[in-house]
Amino acid sequence: MNDTVRTELQGGVELPKIGLGTYRLNGESGARAIDAAIGASYRLIDSAFNYDNEGAVGQAVRNTEVPREELIITSKLAGRYHAYDQARDSIEESLFRLGLDQIDLYLIHWPLPKVDKYVEAWEALVNAQQRGIVRWIGVSNFLPEHIERLEKETGVLPAVNQLQLHPYFPDTEAVEYNASRGIITEAWSPLGRGRELLDEPVIKDIATRLEATPAQVVLAWHMARGVVPIPKSSSLERQVSNFEAQNLELTSEEVAAITSLGINGHRVLDIEPATHEEF
Ligand SMILES: NC(=O)c1ccc[n+]([C@@H]2O[C@H](COP(=O)([O-])OP(=O)(O)OC[C@H]3O[C@@H](n4cnc5c(N)ncnc54)[C@H](OP(=O)(O)O)[C@@H]3O)[C@@H](O)[C@H]2O)c1
Repeated sequence: MNDTVRTELQGGVELPKIGLGTYRLNGESGARAIDAAIGASYRLIDSAFNYDNEGAVGQAVRNTEVPREELIITSKLAGRYHAYDQARDSIEESLFRLGLDQIDLYLIHWPLPKVDKYVEAWEALVNAQQRGIVRWIGVSNFLPEHIERLEKETGVLPAVNQLQLHPYFPDTEAVEYNASRGIITEAWSPLGRGRELLDEPVIKDIATRLEATPAQVVLAWHMARGVVPIPKSSSLERQVSNFEAQNLELTSEEVAAITSLGINGHRVLDIEPATHEEF
């Protein structure tokens, strides 16, 4: 089994099969939790300007004994900064807050189609990549039509599209579209925020067969679909257990059974990328 997920876009991008979400990991305790996760072998760390925790992520990067070049630090451009000059400044502010010389992966957080400035924002990300302050660039919550427009107007495809995905919202079409363009899909809220999803009988039955936890089964389902989940946990025990999900092998029938939970499923947050306004 491969240990990484790759795309040839942007000269080649390679991500671990699972990363760490950091929403609500802030301040001292947040930095400690992120540091612990790095100690537990996480190498892909998610963050965003809007989580107000780029400082905590930077602190964890400085604290750890893991060499900087092994870590893939992600941040995201907030919706209020899509205008080109503001996007450029905001990327630089992310660097200052992180205290790093380079951000490994920088994403546009939401497309905000009604504002209609995401192409400008993308041009600022392309420029940041050319200047070397960002290594790889991508998007989040982008629909195929938004990605097609980026390609048409700038000629540069995102290496990553981070989407809300979990068994209640498997969005197989979006995953297949991204794969067809060579774009790596990351899953946000991969555990459906750890609520009723983990009590679903189909997931619990597979967990019993594999002597695993329901959360591990859900994370293994993402990885079986070629998707990179970024579960958040403040607890070292759950971080370790989530990370070990990459050792589980589901059968294709099990993957299909979990995907079928999405037939009557729903997004955990009722937000549509086509209309959502988040600044
Ligand atoms: N791009 C976007 O628009 C967007 C939007 C939302 C989130 N994100 C990113 O995606 C990351 C993950 O999404 P998320 O934080 O919304 O949800 P999530 O990772 O699906 O769920 C996190 C919740 O599940 C709990 N949990 C973690 N591991 C568990 C386990 N093994 N068993 C039971 N419960 C467990 C956590 O509690 P404990 O901490 O107590 O373990 C937390 O309450 C975020 O942190 C953020 O980095 C991106």
